[in-house]
Amino acid sequence: MKNRYTITSALPYANGPLHIGHIAGAYLPADIYVRYLRSRNKDVLYICGSDEHGAAITLRAKKEGTTPQAIVDKYHGINKKAFNDFGIDFDIYHRTSDPLHHKTAQDFFLKLEEKKSFVKKTAEQFYDEENKQFLADRYIQGTCPKCAYEAAYGDQCEKCGSALSPKDLINPKSTISGNKPVLKETSHWYLPMQDHEEWLREWINNGVLDGKKLHDPSQWKNQVIGQCNSWIDGGLHERAMTRDLNWGVKVPLKDGDGKVLYVWLDAPIGYISATKAWAEKEGKDWKAYWQNDDTQLIHFIGKDNIVFHAIIFPILLKQHGDFILPENVPANAFLNLEGDKISTSRNWAVWLPEYLEEFPGKQDELRYVLTSLAPESRDSEFTWKDYQTRINNELLSIYGNFINRALVLTHKYYNGVLPECGDYSSEDEIVVNEMNSFAEKVGALIERYRFKEAQNEMMNLARLGNKYLADNEPWKLVKTDEERVKVIMKLALEISAKLSIISAPFLPHTAVELQEMLNLKELNWDNYSDELMPVGHQINKAHLLFTKVEDELVAMQVEKLQKSKILKQVPLKEKAVINFDDFTKLDIRIGDIIEAKKVPKTNKLIELKVKVGENVRTVVSGIAEHYSAEELPGKKVSILINLEPRKIKGILSEGMILMAENSEGKLAMISPDNEAIESGSVVR
Ligand code: 2FM
Ligand code: ZN
Repeated sequence: MKNRYTITSALPYANGPLHIGHIAGAYLPADIYVRYLRSRNKDVLYICGSDEHGAAITLRAKKEGTTPQAIVDKYHGINKKAFNDFGIDFDIYHRTSDPLHHKTAQDFFLKLEEKKSFVKKTAEQFYDEENKQFLADRYIQGTCPKCAYEAAYGDQCEKCGSALSPKDLINPKSTISGNKPVLKETSHWYLPMQDHEEWLREWINNGVLDGKKLHDPSQWKNQVIGQCNSWIDGGLHERAMTRDLNWGVKVPLKDGDGKVLYVWLDAPIGYISATKAWAEKEGKDWKAYWQNDDTQLIHFIGKDNIVFHAIIFPILLKQHGDFILPENVPANAFLNLEGDKISTSRNWAVWLPEYLEEFPGKQDELRYVLTSLAPESRDSEFTWKDYQTRINNELLSIYGNFINRALVLTHKYYNGVLPECGDYSSEDEIVVNEMNSFAEKVGALIERYRFKEAQNEMMNLARLGNKYLADNEPWKLVKTDEERVKVIMKLALEISAKLSIISAPFLPHTAVELQEMLNLKELNWDNYSDELMPVGHQINKAHLLFTKVEDELVAMQVEKLQKSKILKQVPLKEKAVINFDDFTKLDIRIGDIIEAKKVPKTNKLIELKVKVGENVRTVVSGIAEHYSAEELPGKKVSILINLEPRKIKGILSEGMILMAENSEGKLAMISPDNEAIESGSVVR
């Protein structure tokens, strides 16, 4: 084990509030890990901050009709406060708009430039002629070549999740003007990632770099190694590290006018500048946390960030030369919500600031539930029903109930002062031995990033306490064997005290409350084997740690979620005027659906056979969420027949069924109002 830890959680974009998906992915697991390490008296630095550059910010500003600066100022404040109120205990929450960050990122870039880590190249990129602006990937939308979703972005299709490049899109459009962008030459600094394939493969899979063992790959998650290998095996390519934009860290070179650093170069360097800012304030040496082999650097992130933290940033760190590489990148999968993907744009989320406001003092309840269902190796799902069940049946019934019984009985029998008593019985000794094993078990699981199991193991100590009281029934025994009851209560309180130590990383607020009730000063992991509840110890007044979650609350939250769902907005902007000739280019006909079947292994696609006049056409249509294949044959529809045929999931689609879509994303077919109109009839 190394002596020093630099722990990072992905810098969230300051373009909106945080939701439970963010928390479960990159913040809560890191916070548990950090609290554990601190409890083990390790030298640990936990850093985070706002990611304030990139298209995510400028797009939001545009949507809200304000400036990027106003957006980041607003959400930096909101997010910083929400993290703090929730108990995510960063040493610093910095921001990438800070001048210290700009300077750090620029120096880093210059060092790499000096080391010839980039190649400067001129290439064609999409350009919006109306706005005289090169278009970042996110500023281009078009049809996804993989699933035919019509609003895929230049870097990714949000429907099917495919990684894309802007030139892959069918019918690309500028999201600023709505126009078709043109290709125009521009120069950028590219990182030739393909030159780094060999050492990356060796470092990721074997933990070895230049013959030196740096990390233990068996501690890396399979899905992280798998995703890295699939990127590397697919062949790495050069990637532009600069952009033509005016929002971001300026390229600090003479020929860098009008250009800024790529946000994925600038953001991870944000971890370094945050460390510098913290070190300056605390009078520490930042380099110890980044440039010393005795330091473990660990990045907690969501799975969409793997390539940036396990491939691109390590390349940059290694090229720079002075930095250590990450020891681990424990990425989590995604958290879904009530049967659907969490979506900011559709407002399908449980927002952290709202939760904190509506559930004051219930941070640990949410922490407990989110850790119980942490998407550690695959996507998982949050439901309010589950929230209720886990709190009522676990946190309250097991943890809360045990503590309450132990404390209330101690007050009742001994006015809260542990009396002189005899020795533990041989049955007690078995319980004592089991009790003593928990610190190590829970710690080992945390160290392996298995927080869900670790939390469950922590609860097993509460279960042990509950069972001990239930088996021994001191409330009955008190009438016949007072001496025995004293021993039982002593052990029950000892279990409570130890529970306060090992539950602290998971339930920090509860642990503090519990230690106050037990009249203990702040304890850490190393105190676990001490005798914490000696004879004569006075405990404080007891109160309930958790309250029951009622059915009404669950129903209310589900209803609120349904109501607040902003379903896909119909674009407000009308399209540009076209002339009649343009219109007549569309060959729209009436067709009869004669056959329909779901396209296997897809959720949305249906393969249709549509009779248009004498011909039968195959059309693949994304309507399976609105219609079942069974109900379609026999319907009369409008079909655009001269759309260029294209293959979708291996099926050649020869046309498009016209649909009306309302603001809630509901689809309806455009059918003639007179059933007698023949198939093949022209729509005009
Ligand atoms: O995906 C995101 O939300 C990014 N803002 C994460 C950045 S992590 C790091 F590189 F700063
Ligand atoms: Zn797609």
